[in-house]
Amino acid sequence: MTARRKARPPLPLLLVPLLLGAGLLTAAQGQSCGGLVQGPNGTIESPGFPHGYPNYANCTWIVLTGERNRIQLSFHSFALEEDFDILSVYDGQLQQGNLKVRLSGFQLPSSIVSTGSILTLWFTTDFAVSAQGFRALYEVLPSHTCGNPGEILKGVLHGTRFNIGDKIRYSCLSGYVLEGHAILTCIVSPGNGASWDFPAPFCRDQLILFPKGALRATSRTSVDMVLK
Ligand SMILES: *[C@@H]1O[C@H](CO)[C@@H](O)[C@H](O)[C@H]1NC(C)=O
Ligand SMILES: *[C@@H]1O[C@H](CO)[C@@H](O)[C@H](O)[C@H]1NC(C)=O
Repeated sequence: MTARRKARPPLPLLLVPLLLGAGLLTAAQGQSCGGLVQGPNGTIESPGFPHGYPNYANCTWIVLTGERNRIQLSFHSFALEEDFDILSVYDGQLQQGNLKVRLSGFQLPSSIVSTGSILTLWFTTDFAVSAQGFRALYEVLPSHTCGNPGEILKGVLHGTRFNIGDKIRYSCLSGYVLEGHAILTCIVSPGNGASWDFPAPFCRDQLILFPKGALRATSRTSVDMVLK
């Protein structure tokens, strides 16, 4: 019903006073839902899932990870009484300015990635009507970055930021034609933190013409050359 805890890395000491100061731990203690959630991954479910949540629920889950990590939350089931039973997700602690999204209704929300090491879920329900509730998986991503995918021969890399959501572009020097994808986007890849959505392209000499059917084999040779 609450998150399953696995390995428990030490609580970053600096965060403890912050959390206590916000009164969030106190809030989590007095009720049978919510709490502090740690570990590389786990499940967060509304109380009673999937048989329906109680009225007047007021649950706060704080997902906490190490300083250089981020948290990805993906929903596997979602059914809340539209507009009256709400799951609010905060990018950080439970503070108005951190509100990322307010979820309600019956559509499966898209996944959410924190920018920092805390993600807070706040679930409130009104006095009447219940539904199945929600089930979400959280996963700690080891890194904010996809890393630099590297320069390519006879090409130019445009872009200097390699974090999730960033795009970079490759172009080729004149006389060369780009083969592959010119634009790469750093995306969240489950289980692997972040990665580019395509491999880096390569630049082919415009003057070299291939007989039909020979292009694939020759292209692969060029890739091998680039990678060496
Ligand atoms: C939810 O619980 C917190 C902490 O106990 C409390 O401050 C808040 O007023 C409660 N909200 C509702 C709607 O009951
Ligand atoms: C959760 O973490 C454990 C331990 O690192 C790993 O073996 C497992 O595959 C992970 N599960 C998911 C769904 O990522």
